[in-house]
Amino acid sequence: MALPVLIAPSILSADMKRLSEEIRSIEPFADWLQIDVMDGRFVPNTAFPLAQVQTIRTTLPLDIHLMVEQPAEYAREFLSLHPKNVTFHAEAVQKTDDRRALLQAIRKGGATAGIAINPPTSLSDIADVLGEVDLLLVMSVNPGFGGQAFIADVLSKVKEARTQFPQLMIQMDGGIDATTAPLCVSAGANNLVAGSFIFRAADRAKAIASLRSSI
Ligand code: DX5
Repeated sequence: MALPVLIAPSILSADMKRLSEEIRSIEPFADWLQIDVMDGRFVPNTAFPLAQVQTIRTTLPLDIHLMVEQPAEYAREFLSLHPKNVTFHAEAVQKTDDRRALLQAIRKGGATAGIAINPPTSLSDIADVLGEVDLLLVMSVNPGFGGQAFIADVLSKVKEARTQFPQLMIQMDGGIDATTAPLCVSAGANNLVAGSFIFRAADRAKAIASLRSSI
């Protein structure tokens, strides 16, 4: 039975000067709102410090994507916002015990716990905890910036994860548009993050509808 596919706009590409309006423009049509938290060390960019995210008002469940070197510290802070999900990068937490502890801490804080892998990272690198996560994020760009080109090689990881875990929430993020979205869903993804495709469109409702009708 096919899993429903969630659409999670990423506000990294939204107009920061009109962030509330930008969020309003997608709220009725989206399932989650993804917040890309960047520390300027794990990725060469900074985005969405806690103070800025605290000002965000939305009816959408918050999906916090931690692209940071110290995800345990950031998770503790961002859990105060009662997000739906918090995802950290496997590349930032190498030891199994630390990964396990962080997954548990996120869940204890009331959110589902996700682990993300960048394009060069193989599924076997997270075999130690993959059976324990609520969400797997397979990045289809090297993180740090919106508007990058989709890296199709990662689709094999999605296929493998879906085969192993038929019910797992598998999210993809990076270069997702009406052309790449069907590739992601056919591979087994059931949660799609799109930033520039949605926020570069004048008609956000139409952009999200085109994603949904493409899969
Ligand atoms: C990491 C960010 C971006 C963003 C989506 O770079 O996680 O992937 O969410 O960016 P687009 O959809 O513009 O590729």
